[in-house]
Amino acid sequence: MKNIGLRGVTVADTKVSFIDGEKGILIYRGYRIETLAEKSTFPEVAFLLLNGVLPRKEELAAFDKRLIDARDVPGYIFEAMSRLPKEASPMDVLQAAVPMLAMSDPDLMDESREANVNEAIRLIARLPVAVAAWHRIRQGLEVLPPRSDLSHAANFLWQLDGKVPDEEMAKDMDTCLILHADHTFNASTFACREVVSTRAHMYAGVAAGIGALSGSLHGGANAQVMKMLFALEKEEDISGWVQGQLDRGERIMGMGHAVYKTMDPRAKYLKDMATRLGNRPGQGRWHQLSVQIEAAGLEEFRKRGKTEIQPNVDFYSAPVYHMMGIPRDIMTPIFAISRVSGWCAHIIEEKFGEAQGKPSLYRPKAEYVGQYCGLMGCTYDGLESRE
Ligand SMILES: CC(C)(COP(=O)(O)OP(=O)(O)OC[C@H]1O[C@@H](n2cnc3c(N)ncnc32)[C@H](O)[C@@H]1OP(=O)(O)O)[C@@H](O)C(=O)NCCC(=O)NCCS
Repeated sequence: MKNIGLRGVTVADTKVSFIDGEKGILIYRGYRIETLAEKSTFPEVAFLLLNGVLPRKEELAAFDKRLIDARDVPGYIFEAMSRLPKEASPMDVLQAAVPMLAMSDPDLMDESREANVNEAIRLIARLPVAVAAWHRIRQGLEVLPPRSDLSHAANFLWQLDGKVPDEEMAKDMDTCLILHADHTFNASTFACREVVSTRAHMYAGVAAGIGALSGSLHGGANAQVMKMLFALEKEEDISGWVQGQLDRGERIMGMGHAVYKTMDPRAKYLKDMATRLGNRPGQGRWHQLSVQIEAAGLEEFRKRGKTEIQPNVDFYSAPVYHMMGIPRDIMTPIFAISRVSGWCAHIIEEKFGEAQGKPSLYRPKAEYVGQYCGLMGCTYDGLESRE
């Protein structure tokens, strides 16, 4: 039977992550997302995703150092960015930066696992630098040099706006990066794996992943949630707005999920974070508004027999980022600078057949429902004789 959209179809084995959509459980390499969010750091999670095991102390220190050293992005990337139209979308610029980064990667032509891990480390280290650099270049500001004394998350925030974040903010950003790092066979990960199944290199796969992530039904949803929050900032009748939206057949961005039939476990964390940040002076409205939309949405979906439509990761990440001072169009790039760790882990798994014995080129089939005149093909009328 046909399955449009491949829902529920198993197309590969993976050891990278696991979701139980009914129970709302997400596991990276055996570890619950809650455990990692509470106890780990993003670099440690990236190590776990790439290597399959948690690092020992000295391994983590070495990995951290490699990430810090790799933050030095070649200057030609910034020169190229300086020629781009200032209104270009940060996701488009990020996607364009990926093949440019490939051009100077010394491991590009080496197909060993070790070389692929080297490429992955460079990508994880450099994507945040590229996002921050573009944000500054488009404002006519100087690109800031990376600081080796700052953590991965703190350095990103520093390079983005020139302020060293306090410990709480750096920790919150690190937690956000952990929560977004992997999510099994979502659209962007599938895109990465599909591309490298042709034996294309890692950068080609990651560029495809960024393109897939940019869409509003996927990673682009966080920016759409923020758009909704801005539009509703002064709205008093939230329930009426939600009802009208659903009556018109429109979606409530940040709610619903292709796999979760209950609240996304990542959203619970981000909701708590939004509650905490919302207690700061002047920030209460964003948290309060999100809670109101969530409650009204759950109520309306319940009335319509769709109790499984609940907040997903993007619903609360948007107000969280906003309260951290992140511009709306940088929200999806932040998703990308985290998810690149999962993409790279999946790309390596795909390339080396690590979960299923041997790599295999993806080649699904489609049912042809277009014009058909028999196996001889349709009669080709010359331009002059066409009606
Ligand atoms: C993510 C998403 C595409 C998953 O959808 P899905 O459950 O796989 O399946 P569908 O898109 O076919 O939706 C199933 C039904 O629920 C409805 N629905 C799902 N999410 C909805 C939402 N957020 N708002 C309103 N209706 C929604 C659809 O309109 C559809 O209704 P229908 O059967 O009457 O046509 C969907 O929930 C969505 O568009 N959410 C908003 C975008 C978003 O937040 N994306 C980020 C995901 S992490």
